[in-house]
Amino acid sequence: MKYFVTGGAGFIGSNMVDRILKDRSNEVTIYDNFCSGRRAYVKHYLKDKRFRLIKGDVLDLELLKNAIKGHNFVFHFVANPDIVKSMVETDLDLKLGIIATYNVLEAMRVNGIKMIADVGLLFDKHWTYKKYLLRYRIRALTIFTTSLKKIAP
Ligand SMILES: NC(=O)c1ccc[n+]([C@@H]2O[C@H](COP(=O)([O-])OP(=O)(O)OC[C@H]3O[C@@H](n4cnc5c(N)ncnc54)[C@H](O)[C@@H]3O)[C@@H](O)[C@H]2O)c1
Repeated sequence: MKYFVTGGAGFIGSNMVDRILKDRSNEVTIYDNFCSGRRAYVKHYLKDKRFRLIKGDVLDLELLKNAIKGHNFVFHFVANPDIVKSMVETDLDLKLGIIATYNVLEAMRVNGIKMIADVGLLFDKHWTYKKYLLRYRIRALTIFTTSLKKIAP
């Protein structure tokens, strides 16, 4: 199985990488811009042929589409790591919550990837693209409303 982990250099993402690579038949690509992620969390895999690291931003849709190609399963762990900052940069959660997840779903759609999970779904076996889309719509609405409240409380 080929896994793609957004935010794979973060705390949760790197732990997921450990778990994925315990199975010798698995391969994993992490996609991270290292704004809060750490190379130290994954540096022991840098020589492992089953591991690939791409430094990139999920807001860069074209790069994401190319990077995600050929994978079977996506773990999406990118998030705004700085909640306080979002009080000043009021579109931060909008970008890293809604646009980022949209980009991941769009990159999956054009590449025919069907399975996705995020931190809220880890205990489920897997989610299909369609089922996740429904959940995304509800979450997007919540984040959008919260962002608006920051502009006009
Ligand atoms: N750590 C916890 O205890 C915990 C508990 C519950 C839920 N969560 C959720 O799990 C998710 C991950 O949390 P974490 O603790 O691993 O955070 P983290 O900050 O360690 O990981 C987030 C990763 O996303 C990367 N990232 C951020 N913006 C990016 C962008 N634009 N493009 C590419 N990469 C980007 C960061 O560099 C980092 O590696 C979050 O959604 C968080 O809310 C975490």
